[in-house]
Amino acid sequence: MAVTVVDHPLVRHKLGILRCESTGTSEFRRISNEIASLLVYEAGRHFVTEKKTVQGWAGPVDVDCLQGKKVNIVPILRAGIGLMDGVLNMLPGAKISVIGLYRNEETLEPVEYYAKFVGALDERLTIVLDPMLATGGSLVAAVDLLKRHGARRICSLHLVCAPEGVARMQKAHPDVDIYTAAMDERLNEHGYILPGLGDAGDRIFGTK
Ligand code: PRP
Ligand code: URA
Repeated sequence: MAVTVVDHPLVRHKLGILRCESTGTSEFRRISNEIASLLVYEAGRHFVTEKKTVQGWAGPVDVDCLQGKKVNIVPILRAGIGLMDGVLNMLPGAKISVIGLYRNEETLEPVEYYAKFVGALDERLTIVLDPMLATGGSLVAAVDLLKRHGARRICSLHLVCAPEGVARMQKAHPDVDIYTAAMDERLNEHGYILPGLGDAGDRIFGTK
């Protein structure tokens, strides 16, 4: 499994704004999506292209285009929705599947409450979106479910990861590549990432 920390100066600058407690909901949403665009741009280095010939202004010209079926993006509800527009800016034709999971506050284990998948998962690249990879329980469960429904090529995008969650993913799904804006220090006793962003769902949806 490859873990890519996208530590471009623009990404680090934008993440710094998200870390400020005073950053409000609309700015948090906008900047989360901007970072998501930059993360998928980096993940896209590994997309496969093919040649085709188009009619250019001065005659036929060979160009590159993305090969294969449209990408499947999978926001993990709710907070994953906060990265969706940024990814769609780069991949406007993407298909969208969703997985609803929340963490049980005592056990920290994920509870599934909804899932809906597009067809032909085995023929598409799947990109899972979740701002926070903390204990890793939610991402492991999401990837388990996607694989049971046929997904084969999977990567994930995050704003912040904890080493504990990455290690759990490494054991459970070593074939999944992870792209993140930051690898933070650790989890606190409540399973929150330090220094982290706080509760990403609450900050994106304005629920606290
Ligand atoms: C958050 C976050 C991840 C999960 C990460 O979701 O969006 O899905 O926690 O934690 P984990 O790696 O320990 O599983 P939350 O359960 O708060 O639900 P929400 O997105 O509905 O707010
Ligand atoms: N979920 C969040 O929203 N934040 C964390 O730090 C951990 C899990």
